[in-house]
Amino acid sequence: MIVGFIGAGRMAAAMARGWVAKVDQMLFTDSGSGRAGGIAEEVGGEALASNRELAERADVVILAVKPAGLEAVAVEIEGIAKPLVSLLGATSMERLEAAFPEADVCRVMPNVAVEVQRGVLCVAGGGEEVRRLLDALGHMVELPDADFNAATAVMGCAPAYLALAVEAIADAGAEAGLDVDLARELVVETAAGTAELLRRHHPREVREAVASPGGSTEAGLDALETAGGRQAFESAVRASLERMRG
Ligand SMILES: NC(=O)c1ccc[n+]([C@@H]2O[C@H](COP(=O)([O-])OP(=O)(O)OC[C@H]3O[C@@H](n4cnc5c(N)ncnc54)[C@H](OP(=O)(O)O)[C@@H]3O)[C@@H](O)[C@H]2O)c1
Repeated sequence: MIVGFIGAGRMAAAMARGWVAKVDQMLFTDSGSGRAGGIAEEVGGEALASNRELAERADVVILAVKPAGLEAVAVEIEGIAKPLVSLLGATSMERLEAAFPEADVCRVMPNVAVEVQRGVLCVAGGGEEVRRLLDALGHMVELPDADFNAATAVMGCAPAYLALAVEAIADAGAEAGLDVDLARELVVETAAGTAELLRRHHPREVREAVASPGGSTEAGLDALETAGGRQAFESAVRASLERMRG
């Protein structure tokens, strides 16, 4: 299987790293930055100068440019009937199918954890071969096209919000006297373990299992609520959604 990435930015690189041992060959293009060469060298793939050549050689084409680049790429690869996976945020199936009328289009919203094969991938459309390919990158969820923006706000953007929470807690640990690297290690491993727990228990149960009445965790949760911690995350999701709606 030859996978061709049109666009060699952050998401293309994350997916390519996740696929290293899974696909036979990966091809990349960029718009002149040289990033295609960089990721091709890292994963043992090939950088090409032309999107058309890439689409001709690939078995599956991954559209990994910014949404504004959709039409320009469509013109370049017009008439090539390959399975096409679009990663474009806030770009509906209707627009994709209009831009690539010959292609079998699959709309995918991945998050950056595809790099470690623990991503979440929201998927609409696409054939069995493409679904198998995507399945190797993490947890796949079939989603109606109309729900993609809301889903993106909670799974595409959320790695950044969770990373901010980890960073803030680790910084507070360092301020309390812990070595900076140790503080981060303690919080990162706590986040990984808590994620596993959250697969089995409701978030409220996990909170209650830690916060005994009158204890230090309860004091911390009270301080978080008072500081508007919960509302801050809700605002983040709303702001992402508003940006997607333009
Ligand atoms: N980052 C995320 O977490 C994330 C999550 C889900 C979905 N997405 C979606 O994934 C897509 C890419 O996002 P990103 O964060 O990876 O963006 P990015 O880092 O800015 O990368 C975009 C890439 O597209 C290339 N490009 C632009 N026009 C091109 C053209 N005509 N032909 C070939 N390559 C072209 C750019 O080339 P240069 O390197 O030369 O600039 C760059 O390599 C977006 O549509 C976004 O909505 C991103």
